[in-house]
Order: sequence, then C-alpha cells, then structure tokens
Amino acid sequence: MLIRSRKSWELPYSAVTPEPIYRSRREFMRTATAGLLGAAAGTAIACGDADSAVGAQGRLTATRNAKYSVADPPNSFEHITSYNNFYEFGLDKDDPARYAGRLKVEPWSVKVDGLVGRPGTYGVDELVDFNALEERIYRLRCVEAWSMVIPWIGVPLASVLQKVEPLPAARFVEFTTVERPSEMPGLRVPVLEWPYREGLRLDEAMHPLSFMVVGLYGQVLPNQNGAPLRVHSPWKYGFKGAKSIVRIRLTDRQPRTSWPTMAPHEYGFYANVNPEVPHPRWSQARERRLPDFFARTPTLMFNGYGDEVASLYAGMDLRRNF
Ligand code: MTE
Repeated sequence: MLIRSRKSWELPYSAVTPEPIYRSRREFMRTATAGLLGAAAGTAIACGDADSAVGAQGRLTATRNAKYSVADPPNSFEHITSYNNFYEFGLDKDDPARYAGRLKVEPWSVKVDGLVGRPGTYGVDELVDFNALEERIYRLRCVEAWSMVIPWIGVPLASVLQKVEPLPAARFVEFTTVERPSEMPGLRVPVLEWPYREGLRLDEAMHPLSFMVVGLYGQVLPNQNGAPLRVHSPWKYGFKGAKSIVRIRLTDRQPRTSWPTMAPHEYGFYANVNPEVPHPRWSQARERRLPDFFARTPTLMFNGYGDEVASLYAGMDLRRNF
C-alpha cells in the first residue's frame, strides 16, 4: 500500500480537482499499488543534471534583474521543489519530487514548426542563450488558490521566439510537453489528454514578462519544476506554464490546450489571474501564500502585474475570455 503523508498546508485533493480527475485518482492509486510506481520510488530528485551547457554541479550564472522582484520573501528551494503540479508524474503534490528523477533530460531537443521562418529541431542551448541568463523573482499563482514567490532563472521568451523568426501570419504559440510513459508514471492515467499542451497569444508570448525558465535559486531547473525548459507568464494561472517543452508551434489559430479541453467551463485559454472571476467551485479572491496555509491574502488582478499587461486585454470581456 502506498502511504503518503499530507503536509498541513496542502488542500485535500478533492477540494481543487475537477471531478473526472478526482475519479481517475482511484485508478491511479490502483496502478500505484500494483507496483508500477514502486519501481520508481527509489529514484532521486534529479537536481543539477539537466543540461551539459550549464557547467559543473548544475550551477547557473545569471544576472539579477532588479526590475522583476517581489516584496514578499521567496519560498525556500525545498518548498518550491517539493510541492508541485506535474500530473505526468502523479496527482499528489509530492509525486513530482518523488518520481521526476526518472525523466532523462539530456540529450533534449525541441521541435519548432508552424508559421516560422526557421523551423527545425533545436538543442536547448540553441534556443536559450546561457550567457544571457537573468534571475527574476516572480509570483506564481496557481488556479487552485495557492501561491509562491520563486527566483526563476531564464531568458525572455521573446528572445527564444525571435531566434526562429515568427512569420507575419503567426498569432499564437503552442507548447507541447514531453510524453514518455516509461519515465512518467502519471501518464498511465488519462486525467488529461496527453501530451500536456499549453499556449499563448503571440503578443502575450512576446511580452517582456513572459519568461523561458531553465533554473531556479541559481541551479539548473529540477525535473519536477519542468526541466530542462518551461514557460512562466506570471500574470496567468500557473497551468499556463508548460513544463519540459518538446515542441513549439506557431499558428494562426488558438491552440487546443489541455485544461480547457478537459473542463471548458472551469478553465479558459487566457487564464489571467483575476480575483473577480471565481472558479465555478471556489473563489479566486484570496490565495494561500504557501507555506502559510492558513493566511488568506487577497489575490491581485493580473497577479499584481496589471500595470504591465492590462493593455494586452483592452476592450476584452475578461469574464467571457477567462
Ligand atoms: N506542465 C506539465 N507538463 N504538466 C503539468 O501537470 N502543471 C501546471 C504547470 N505546468 C503542469 C505543467 C500547473 S497546474 C502549475 S500550477 C504549474 O505547472 C506548477 O509549477 P511548479 O510545480 O513548478 O510550481
């Protein structure tokens, strides 16, 4: 039997999870007890072995960008890397830390296609300039009403996209993430349509706040946080931040993304943090700034980044385009 200890600040799984997923969890646990997860239980957290371009011990050299900081203190490395959503490894918050060490992140390539001038298959260091890494302290607000403050390391997403030369007709970017059943035990459960897909409007992706993340706290990104590269647009709910990206496709149509496909009335394509638009099953007006599970702090419009991004949505009905 798989026994998990739940930390005091974790929401019960049923409180935040759409019903189809909650039901699938039983199936997941059956799979786990059949020993399929047990084989992975001895694997370590793969921190620091993600990419050969980053130097010894997985340390990254990055320049702190003071423009992007947060008054509240960052969460600890331990916390950021042990309380995760990465359903390909399981549905509990500690499953990614437990099982993501299985994911082989080197070598890694990203297919770039669609409406780009330079389609092809790229290595991580062909897309990300490791000599221009920045550290940015961003808030992460999950749609489940918890939040963290994280010192990410990466480059502007715009700098990655510029390398592949979006064509004038491109309006959206679709991110597809890795799907390897032998390394990702959660894929056995069809909680979402795999592989996990996310997307942004091209102007959102090119916005200076959108970040292609390759590390945190001065280290190569741990697997459970989306190694070797993941996106973070801090004014959006965390699920917009696709982890472990293997394909970037530029398109003229809004891509079909994982969460809105699974539950269209609960999760929208835009997913801008908005305290005025409740999730159908809970309020978004407040959030738990982890690890303090009981302090409910007010959620800010666009997660506090409204001055920078509100103009992207001028004239749009944010209740309809949630
Ligand atoms: N990316 C993939 N491939 N699979 C996932 O399950 N979960 C999303 C997002 N990216 C997810 C994903 C959700 S719901 C959140 S809140 C963030 O990752 C969590 O990022 P973190 O674990 O680094 O805090």
